Amino acid sequence: MSKTLQQFLAEQFSAGNIDQQLSDLLNAVADLSKNINDKVTHGALAGVLGFAGTDNVQGEHQKKLDIITNEVFIDGVEWTGSIAAMASEEMDHSLSTPAEFRRGKYLIMFDPLDGSSNIDINAPIGSIFSISEAPEGKVTDESFLKKGRSQVAAGYVMYSPQTILTLTVGHGVYMFTLNLGTGQYILTKENIRIPEQTQEFAINMSNMRHWEPPVQKYVKELLEGETGPLGKNFNMRWVAAMVAEVHRVLCRGGIFMYPRDNRDPSKPGKLRLMYEANPMAMLIEQAGGRATNGHEDILDLQPEKLHQRVAVFLGSKEEVDRVTSYHKN
Ligand code: AHG
Ligand code: MN
Ligand code: MN
Ligand code: MN
Repeated sequence: MSKTLQQFLAEQFSAGNIDQQLSDLLNAVADLSKNINDKVTHGALAGVLGFAGTDNVQGEHQKKLDIITNEVFIDGVEWTGSIAAMASEEMDHSLSTPAEFRRGKYLIMFDPLDGSSNIDINAPIGSIFSISEAPEGKVTDESFLKKGRSQVAAGYVMYSPQTILTLTVGHGVYMFTLNLGTGQYILTKENIRIPEQTQEFAINMSNMRHWEPPVQKYVKELLEGETGPLGKNFNMRWVAAMVAEVHRVLCRGGIFMYPRDNRDPSKPGKLRLMYEANPMAMLIEQAGGRATNGHEDILDLQPEKLHQRVAVFLGSKEEVDRVTSYHKN
């Protein structure tokens, strides 16, 4: 008998792994992702492709879908009674639950559309979310600045040939495939484990000349293959959507890297700690892998600001350990 996401969440509730508010919130995220899926699959037919003509707070040119999916997220979670506030890659500041809705006990952070350079070429994209407990009293941007270790749930939805929701509530990693006929997410993979060893890496090689020496050294060794110090050949992939890279790592192992580089010292990496690195690091650790910024585990970093960027090395433990150790010397 196939298990739906709702049944799975009911079981997690019975087991004491989540409470009712978290269950309601996760069901709401799953529902809104079907709405996003509908929009992205219709593409040009729904008039959602192309640039919006605006920039977000991080100076990125927004695609129409960045803005549309951000609104779908807000509309999809604000009414649930599960959240006190939300924060997004596409909003300057956090947004408290509007007065007409009941305030809940959680904070949600999201990258409503990841891989936005892929939208117009019909390549994989996704949404990423991170949930933690809200403090008592008034919620401000500072309330979100908690270590990733404090997340109570994290996940992503990948829109590709199949639409897949991947979730952890701190008890392993589970994948659900959307059945477009019934509109249900069905559990299709459970207790995912990332192999400790791998022969596959992902990095945007076009930035090579800008990387710091430890990353230069490591990638050079990867390219040397079986005659180099690592003694084995590596294959490379680059989808340009973190969701798709992490999904591949969860499915068959690998190392994914987005290092800091020397172009803009104010930006320690490209990816965002709160909306991208933290939720993905929780999934990766829950599946037995490792995620660092080259120095420390991502989940132990103390965030300093909402839209903070961070270097990311994640995936199969042996390789993440190796590149992290290279940063020590
Ligand atoms: P976003 O679309 O949410 O701004 O994130 C894009 C990120 C990430 O998904 C991906 O790993 C990376 O940017 C791709 O970067 P390149 O443009 O260097 O390929
Ligand atoms: Mn963006
Ligand atoms: Mn992103
Ligand atoms: Mn995004």
